[in-house]
Formats: sequence, C-alpha cells, structure tokens
Amino acid sequence: MLKVDEKNYKIKIMKNGPYIVSGGVPLYKMAIGTDDDGNSYQWCSKEEVPCGGTYALCRCGQSNDKPFCDGSHVKSGFDGTETASRNPYMDEAMETDGPTIKLLDVWPLCDHSRFCMRAGGIRKLVSESDNPEARKIAVEEAESCPSGRLVLVDKETGEKVEPEFEPSIVMVHDPNKDCEGPIWVRGGIPIESEDGHTYEIRNRVTLCQCGKSENKPFCDGSHWMSPEKKKEWRAKWE
Ligand code: FES
Repeated sequence: MLKVDEKNYKIKIMKNGPYIVSGGVPLYKMAIGTDDDGNSYQWCSKEEVPCGGTYALCRCGQSNDKPFCDGSHVKSGFDGTETASRNPYMDEAMETDGPTIKLLDVWPLCDHSRFCMRAGGIRKLVSESDNPEARKIAVEEAESCPSGRLVLVDKETGEKVEPEFEPSIVMVHDPNKDCEGPIWVRGGIPIESEDGHTYEIRNRVTLCQCGKSENKPFCDGSHWMSPEKKKEWRAKWE
C-alpha cells in the first residue's frame, strides 16, 4: 500500500481563500448519527462526491457551489487569518488518568460533534476503564471524535488508540443541529498554511468550512454555537 507522502496528497491553504486539495484525495459526505437519547453515536450516510485530482474547497462559507469554492470569498472580503497554535499536539495535551487508559485532550481543537457525551461522558468512562464495557464505550467515543481533540492511550502498551483511515476528506453534516459541520481530514494528509508552514501531520483533524472559527484553519464549533454559548463553554477550560 502506498504511503500518503508517496501519493502527494496535500491541502494548501490560500490567503483569505479556499483549501486547494491536490493528489486526488477522495472526497465524501457523511452525517453524524444519534442514539435514542440524541447523543452523537456513529458516522452514517457515506456518499462519494465526484471531484478531480485537484480541487478547491470553500473556506469562507459563502460559496453557492459547496463544498467547492466559487470565488465568493473575494466578494465577501473573507478574512481567513490563521490563528491556531502551531505547537505539536502533545505539547498542549491535558491528561485524565484512568485504571487502564489515559485520555489526552487539546480542547481548542474541539469541533463540537459531541461524540464524547454518551454514557455519562468520556472522562467518567475513562475513570471506570477497569470495567470492560466502560472502556469499550470510551474507545468508541475517542475514535469517533473527528477533530482528534480526544486521544486515548492504552496504559499497558503505552500506544495511542487510533482508528485506521483511508486518506480522505469528509464533509460533515450535523442533522441534530441542522447544519453543515467541518471538513474532516483523515489519514495523515499534510496541511500547509498560507505562509508555507506544515501543521503537525495527524490521523484526524477538522478544518473550518463556515469561515467563522476563531481557531482557523481548524473548526471550533462556531458553525452551530452562538458566540455566547461558545464563550460559556470556553470559560470551563481557559
Ligand atoms: S466549520 Fe466549524 S467553526 Fe467553521
């Protein structure tokens, strides 16, 4: 199997403009599925989106040809300034320790897909991870987190627990919030900033497609959260 770098997959962020995706990265649409209690539970409705070898994805949220760019960023005067930390994930991660697994968390990366809230929430599950059922649900929740905010470490092996992904891009739909979500980048595709910096290459990250994130290029949940709600949520962590 070819490695990602042999395929020349790449996402280049254009100044106040779109994401240019090159190398023929497969593009899909997927939706967040919920359980009977309304908690995010699984990924569903996978659908391939026809695209060429190189394509431009909208980053300002204004395109009439989504997910593709139609040049609307120019007319709307989109400010796409990248403000996210460029430090490696491990330099910023907070830890929650449990009996068999440890949770790593970089909260500014949260895209608010809400997979970590089922069954009492991932922190509680990690603290009860000597119970196999609690551990199983904690792993499901962390692996479903599209942004890679949450990562579990198996304490026996010291290895991170990561899902395997075909290098690909998914346009996320969030039916519960009745909106489009972020651009889910999977499988270690390099992302280069407007000024030529390559962000840490990770198995999963979520890029902002609505243009409203305060942590560009990454999604921060602004596609559905009001500024007041976001402020309230951030106060819990800052
Ligand atoms: S897509 Fe989530 S903040 Fe823009």
